[in-house]
This record gives sequence, structure tokens and C-alpha cells, in this order.
Amino acid sequence: MNKDIILNKTKTFVKDKLYNEGSGHDWFHTKRVYNLATYLCEKEGGDEFIIKMTALLHDIDDWKFSNNNKTTEDFLKSLDVNEEDIHKIMNIITTMSYKGGVVDSTQDNLEGKIVQDADRLDAMGAIGIARAFTYGGSKNRLMYDPNIKPRDFHSLDEVKNLNNHTVNHFYEKLLKLKDLINTDTAKQIAEERHRFMEIYLDEFFYEWNFNKEK
Ligand code: ADP
Ligand code: NI
Repeated sequence: MNKDIILNKTKTFVKDKLYNEGSGHDWFHTKRVYNLATYLCEKEGGDEFIIKMTALLHDIDDWKFSNNNKTTEDFLKSLDVNEEDIHKIMNIITTMSYKGGVVDSTQDNLEGKIVQDADRLDAMGAIGIARAFTYGGSKNRLMYDPNIKPRDFHSLDEVKNLNNHTVNHFYEKLLKLKDLINTDTAKQIAEERHRFMEIYLDEFFYEWNFNKEK
């Protein structure tokens, strides 16, 4: 099968599967990551097919909701993608996620660095803020509770299940992303998105504490 046909079939497959996903991994997230990754590939290089396929499939078997990556791998096999490419794509997808900072998510090839940067950029800025509160809402979490301070996680179980509020997620992950970005092109975009989150949090606390009793 030719690569354009594979890419088109993959878009249709992912769109069908993720269209109504409610925790911030919906099809529009995938589409933004795809657009960002394509832009980074234009500027930084890398194998365009691997980058686009990985961006499209990266959230099909999310670790928070699924225990294996079977759906993704089976789909790639059904399209007759060659073994080497399947291996490369699966390797990036299974290692790129931040996972509360408790596991190593370092990428050793340019394609992985680019898709990871694209996914992380979409967790920052105005969209990142909206996604964080959407995710928190999907877990019935408070947006903020001043009594619960940010913390370092020690296991994936803690990351998934610890009672938390969404403002902590900024300090536990989102504000750290700027320094974890791999490519120079993405770093420039990350600087702006980081600043926007800082301005947002200043305003959030200003409003939260408005005329607070001493
Ligand atoms: P990654 O793409 O690194 O795997 P996640 O899947 O953990 O990231 O996150 C998907 C989206 O949900 C991101 O926008 C992220 O900030 C948000 N999110 C994940 N965990 C939380 C949380 N505990 N509170 C608020 N938002 C979260
Ligand atoms: Ni993602």
C-alpha cells in the first residue's frame, strides 16, 4: 500500500475511535499534534511518514486507560506497514508519555523527539489549560484546593489515583514541560505557551484571593 493511502486510512481510523473521547485525548487533540509534528518535521527534518503515523496513533492505547498497545499494533499490521516501521512507531508511542515524571520518557531518535514535543506543546498554553481542566472535570476533581500542595510522585499508581486538584497539575507537570522540550523549533513555541500559563495562574490567584480576609 502506498504511504498516502496508509496515512488516509489511519486518519479515518483514529477519527472514528477518538471523536467523542471526553478526557482531552479527542480527535482534535490528535489533529493538533499531527499539525504541530508536521510543522516541526518541516523545520527540523526526520522521516515524515514515521512522524505523521506516530502523531496520529499516539493516543489510541493511552496507558491511563489501556493495559497494552494491541489495538495500535494490530492496526499497523492490518495495513501491511513494514516490520521496521511498525517497530519504530510502537517504540516511540510506548515511551513518549510524561507519566507524572516517574518513568524515563527520553527519546533517542529525531522522530520520537518531534512527536513528543508536539504532544507536549498541546499540553501547554491556552489549549493546555483547557485540556487540564477538562481532564480534571472528567475525574470529578476540584479545580483548586489551597490545602493540597503540589508534590513529587513515586509511582504510576499515585499519578493515576491520588486525590488532587487541577491547579497542582500545572506545578507537577505543565510548568516543567518547557525545559523538557527536545527541538529548537519547539522550544521557541514552548516559551510563549509557558509565559501564557504563568500569566493565567497569576490572574487565577488574584481572583481567587480577591478581598480575602486576613
Ligand atoms: P501525555 O500526553 O504525556 O501522556 P497525558 O495523557 O497524561 O499526557 O495528558 C493528556 C492531557 O490531560 C494533557 O493536557 C494533560 O495535561 C492532561 N492531564 C493529565 N493528567 C492530568 C491531571 N492529573 N490533571 C489535569 N490534567 C491532566
Ligand atoms: Ni496526546
